[in-house]
Amino acid sequence: MTGAFTIRGAALLDLPRILEIERLAFSQPWSRDAFKREFSLAFSRTIVAVWNSVDESAVVGFLCRWLVGSEYHVLNIAVHPAFRRFGIATALMDAAIGEARASESELITLEVRRSNVAARGLYRRYCFEERRLRRNYYGPGQDAIVMELQLKAPASL
Ligand SMILES: CC(C)(COP(=O)(O)OP(=O)(O)OC[C@H]1O[C@@H](n2cnc3c(N)ncnc32)[C@H](O)[C@@H]1OP(=O)(O)O)[C@@H](O)C(=O)NCCC(=O)NCCS
Repeated sequence: MTGAFTIRGAALLDLPRILEIERLAFSQPWSRDAFKREFSLAFSRTIVAVWNSVDESAVVGFLCRWLVGSEYHVLNIAVHPAFRRFGIATALMDAAIGEARASESELITLEVRRSNVAARGLYRRYCFEERRLRRNYYGPGQDAIVMELQLKAPASL
């Protein structure tokens, strides 16, 4: 596969493709309304990876984050199955971590399914630490691990 991808802010026009990727990626996908709500929130932002080749230009991955005070939360990240292991999630995470640093966030947090080997591998490469277990967070027997990347020392009380 030849081509290159770029990262940009998502627009409402990207929603059909984001939904397609979401449904391919997750057994309990977010709904169209859930994404639309994120688009309307001031502290929420979605970025997309766009694959550009000679004959097509398509959204192949996305990341959704919240930026609240000094805390940066990655809510959702997914890459189209046909475009995995090309470094697209890495580029999305690079953009997110760059934004978190630029906004002087202290901490990046996220939740990941305990069974999600690929995502846990991705986050570990950025030195996210596995902090807590949330039992049955995604349903019976489906635990979540809370992961954190400390960017700055927390403000003292
Ligand atoms: C997790 C996911 C986003 C990774 O996307 P990707 O574009 O394929 O990731 P990258 O190519 O940037 O891979 C970066 C690193 O992540 C790890 N990784 C990615 N996929 C992996 C897999 N299937 N198994 C083990 N490690 C994996 C590796 O360390 C990889 O580096 P390497 O290719 O040099 O070995 C993708 O598999 C996906 O969309 N999964 C379904 C949705 C999901 O689980 N999202 C996370 C919710 S918390």
